[in-house]
Amino acid sequence: MKTDVVIIGGGPSGLLLSQLLNRAGVETVVLERSPRERVLSRIRAGVLEAGTVEMLQKAGAGERMLREGHPHEGCIFSDGDLMVRIDFGALTGKTVMVYGQTEVTADLYAAQDAMGATILHEVSEVAIRDADSDAPFVEFTHDGARKRIDCAYVAGCDGFHGVSRRTIPESVRREYERVYPFGWLGLLSRTPPAHDELIYANSANGFALASMRNPMLSRYYVQVPLSDRVEDWSDDRFWERLKSCLPGEVAETLVTGPSIEKSIAPLRSFVSEPLRWGRLFLVGDAAHIVPPTGAKGLNLAVSDVFYLHRALIDAVRHGETAGIDSYSERALRRIWKAMRFSWSMTMMVHRFDGEDSFAAEMRRATLLHLSQSETARRDLAENYIGLPF
Ligand code: APR
Ligand code: PHB
Repeated sequence: MKTDVVIIGGGPSGLLLSQLLNRAGVETVVLERSPRERVLSRIRAGVLEAGTVEMLQKAGAGERMLREGHPHEGCIFSDGDLMVRIDFGALTGKTVMVYGQTEVTADLYAAQDAMGATILHEVSEVAIRDADSDAPFVEFTHDGARKRIDCAYVAGCDGFHGVSRRTIPESVRREYERVYPFGWLGLLSRTPPAHDELIYANSANGFALASMRNPMLSRYYVQVPLSDRVEDWSDDRFWERLKSCLPGEVAETLVTGPSIEKSIAPLRSFVSEPLRWGRLFLVGDAAHIVPPTGAKGLNLAVSDVFYLHRALIDAVRHGETAGIDSYSERALRRIWKAMRFSWSMTMMVHRFDGEDSFAAEMRRATLLHLSQSETARRDLAENYIGLPF
């Protein structure tokens, strides 16, 4: 087989990149390890930056999002009963779109199918060969046979545990990491959301987040020690902890119900540089991980695709390499700013085991400053809705 760009990974990064390249006449083959239904079973954050909304529309995969998604004008940060609303609209003139990542991925698959794109599922033993030459190729096993695709470029969209980042020699890579000493226990329930906007709640019992997918599907998280297992948390125990973290007026009216999904996710900040090695380019979670506190995971993947799709079109269609030569530096500039925001939000709202009373006062003072300073609220809003590409 031969194609212009082999894309490893059929998650949001790989699918959006493939869709944008195909629409510009660049041929791709997407290699995905999992069956499609497993990719579509993943529950992930659902807050889309304004730039992500625009990119999905540019890819021709935004129609259902505009119809079924929920534009949000603001969100709330709380500490006990103190609630501070960040009014995105008034502060930035922009909003975010609440629309589950699962739905984004499903819409991208539908768009790729309509395009007649080549997506191979349940591939294994993917190996990227000669990425640092002018003739890279990818080997993989599919339908019981070992296969090879020759290509001009390879996009590593295969997430944190993929093969792409590890293909770049360790001597070339610079890795930065911060692992947080707690996780998020998430619960999905067919209940009306606790509030009409997201609430990031800091409390003496730690952090909680009240989010949603639609008027009858709520998504909640509570901070838990890394040693906890899902089995340790009955629904009742979860609801009690959540109520203890939320502002009293919200907790009083919270509608609880049976969980339809419950899972614990660790929190880490991670960046691997550079994003390019020869004709291999890293995109999304393959190159970086953010704690979910700032809702940047999917949006940062889209950010990388914004820079790389134009660069690959220029290289494949016009033989111009300025875009691919500057991809890593340009994408990393925005990645590090989102990394900083996600880290600062995480430090602002979580309670760290063994912390002293000063740390708790610093968190409360930060929230008080937010409540009294429009400048502070605007800084948070500009980062939350998404900095310019
Ligand atoms: N070969 C083929 N496919 C692979 C391989 C491999 N060796 N390793 C991983 N994959 C696939 C995974 O099955 C997954 O479907 O690559 C895909 C990577 O998708 P994501 O992990 O979702 O990463 P990305 O597309 O960059 O999207 C980032 O997804 O995980 C969330 O929080 C993250 O919101 C962020 C977004
Ligand atoms: C979610 O709805 O899953 C969600 C929303 C915002 C976040 C993290 C997760 O910051």
